[in-house]
Amino acid sequence: MKNILITGGAGFIGSHVVRRFVRRYPEYTVYNLDALTYAGNLMNLRDVENAPNYRFIKADIRDFDTLDRLFAKHRFDAVIHLAAESHVDRSIENPTAFVHTNVLGTVNLLNAARKYWKDEPENHLFYHISTDEVYGTLGDQGMFTEQTCYDPRSAYSASKASSDHFVRAYGHTYGLPVVVSNCSNNYGPYQFPEKLIPLVIHNIIHRKPLPVYGTGQNVRDWLFVEDHANAIDLIFHQGRRGETYNIGGNNEQRNIDVVEKLCEITDEMLGRTPGESKALIRFVTDRAGHDWRYAIDTSKIQRELGWQPQTGWDEGLRKTVKWYLENQDWLQQVTSGAYREYYDKMYKKRLNE
Ligand code: NAD
Ligand code: TYD
Repeated sequence: MKNILITGGAGFIGSHVVRRFVRRYPEYTVYNLDALTYAGNLMNLRDVENAPNYRFIKADIRDFDTLDRLFAKHRFDAVIHLAAESHVDRSIENPTAFVHTNVLGTVNLLNAARKYWKDEPENHLFYHISTDEVYGTLGDQGMFTEQTCYDPRSAYSASKASSDHFVRAYGHTYGLPVVVSNCSNNYGPYQFPEKLIPLVIHNIIHRKPLPVYGTGQNVRDWLFVEDHANAIDLIFHQGRRGETYNIGGNNEQRNIDVVEKLCEITDEMLGRTPGESKALIRFVTDRAGHDWRYAIDTSKIQRELGWQPQTGWDEGLRKTVKWYLENQDWLQQVTSGAYREYYDKMYKKRLNE
């Protein structure tokens, strides 16, 4: 029996990872530790919440004493660490929150793991989930490899970079068994509608303006979230200790193309007149320090673990739009209350609403 602690399991990517592990590994007990911030939602896990090998723990990684008690009680064998403040725009407004959760929270978890895994470290694993944004920004050419120097440029990416460094430092200094993966932009069901794709789908549904930062020419590499969960599963079970794996979709897209494609698919699925939603596009004030382009060289994970993305861009976007259209109660629930305040703060001036 293996006790696996997954942090941030009530969030977007975490919920897909929890679901996958609960279903595929009945011999594991999966503990989902989550503080249920604005981004965490137990509705994301309704389909597995009664599984016999699933437990939810409401706790905050900023609180070491609680983590200490939980490690003593449940004797976790491994950690998959996803809990984080994850949105760049929020990090521009409140960088300190990112230091507390992403840096101190990670160090708290590392300290707890170190304390309880003194014996037989080889039977344990601390798997840290990170982002390609730690590598900084690219011009029109080139790709991030595992050797690319860190060059974070937002408070979000600086806090994730810092946490990555701490994880590796604990590996080197204390012999903690660690592995890190750095992934590009994810999309899919259950993503909170502050990120580009679900925000645009939500606004299309409600015929609201679609805010595109700057010129819309910035490029992101997009990966369907279930492909990321699959990569996490492989790295968790077969990744080499002490290594870093880059994960990406081999799918670079300009923001404006993403938004236009979403307009086309959603109009088609809603039976609206073609072009109706594109008319809602507004070019708005750019994000401060907006990274230009991200692209990932995935040859290492492909070569070592045989992983590649399974979901094509068109297929993934269609699945995603369909999910949001069929789950408008979910959208409604997460956009009630504090979301309105957030949206007004971030977009009212930009859109002159
Ligand atoms: P998310 O914001 O959807 O979810 C984060 C989860 O962490 C939420 O459930 C939230 O309640 C929880 N959380 C936040 N602060 C906490 C705290 N102090 N204690 C306990 N729980 C806390 O994020 P996501 O998009 O699912 O990202 C998950 C991880 O993957 C993050 O570490 C992120 O940096 C990384 N990542 C995300 C992407 C992406 O495109 N979304 C890409 C690469 C890497
Ligand atoms: P986002 O989903 O916030 O992810 P990240 O900043 O981590 O890449 O944004 C994706 C891209 O879309 C990024 O270049 C910023 C841009 N963007 C907009 O143009 N408008 C928006 O309203 C949002 C949220 C993002």
